[in-house]
Amino acid sequence: MAIWNLGSINADMVYAVPHLPRPGETLAATELSHFLGGKGANMSVAAARAGATVHHIGAVGPDGRWTVGRLADYGVDTEHVAQVTVPTGHAIIAVEETGENLIVLFPGANQEIAVEQLEQALAGAKAGDLLVMQNETNAQVEAAQMGRERGLKVCYAAAPFDAEAVSALLPHLDFLILNEVEAEQLQQATGLAPSELPVAQVIVTLGSKGVRYFDSDTGESQEFPAYKVKAVDTTGAGDTFTGYVLAGMDQGMSMPQAIDLAMRAAAIMVTRHGTADVIPLLDDVRQARLG
Ligand code: RIB
Ligand code: NA
Repeated sequence: MAIWNLGSINADMVYAVPHLPRPGETLAATELSHFLGGKGANMSVAAARAGATVHHIGAVGPDGRWTVGRLADYGVDTEHVAQVTVPTGHAIIAVEETGENLIVLFPGANQEIAVEQLEQALAGAKAGDLLVMQNETNAQVEAAQMGRERGLKVCYAAAPFDAEAVSALLPHLDFLILNEVEAEQLQQATGLAPSELPVAQVIVTLGSKGVRYFDSDTGESQEFPAYKVKAVDTTGAGDTFTGYVLAGMDQGMSMPQAIDLAMRAAAIMVTRHGTADVIPLLDDVRQARLG
């Protein structure tokens, strides 16, 4: 089986700051680091590190060749990453000492994915493969429809949250992953609690409180307490969780097994500064001693 990720690719500029800037404030950073990022790229790298075969579908600008090279170095298939004339997406990320962050995103090339490009990529997909998306690219609904037609399992991480984007996708989804705030926003927009959504499998991540999983086929709901770690940078932890969960599902793990592995990976991720480049390897995830 394989994972097809219609996903963003960003150049992340991460600024360490004493506190997150307030409106009107000019604030000096104590450090600047550069990483491969984008929720899409982070998920692809996480899933590849978890052992899955991952095909990334995306777009970068002329300034983004290094991002594609890095994705490929990390074991992600980049055959379906296009180069367009618009600049590569980038993110300005401020991280304060508690690990909390603030992100300003420039979508750039991530909004330039052609429908023909998607068609060409998904022509190589097999029924039962996973299609994953997040809300940082264009063509999400087209992809979801194509995925369904080809018998793929359509998965969506509703971040950055947009009620209209999720609502448009809901009829096509098999798997939805949201954080607690996103789940509340979706409930406000649709009137539906996570357990009531027309999606077979729903995961709500609760940060330091763990994860809740709803399976509409069995009507089962399960809670998983979080591993306790000292957070230094929560950026990319959610994406790491999603990538690991998808890889687990794709490799035939039970959902509780996949969730546990993903929670371990995300726990390690919050102890590290940075995004895609520092996503933990499977061996480190398996061997880590976590409380
Ligand atoms: O979720 C973290 C990611 O959000 C960063 O890598 C940044 O690029 C933004 O997409
Ligand atoms: Na991190």
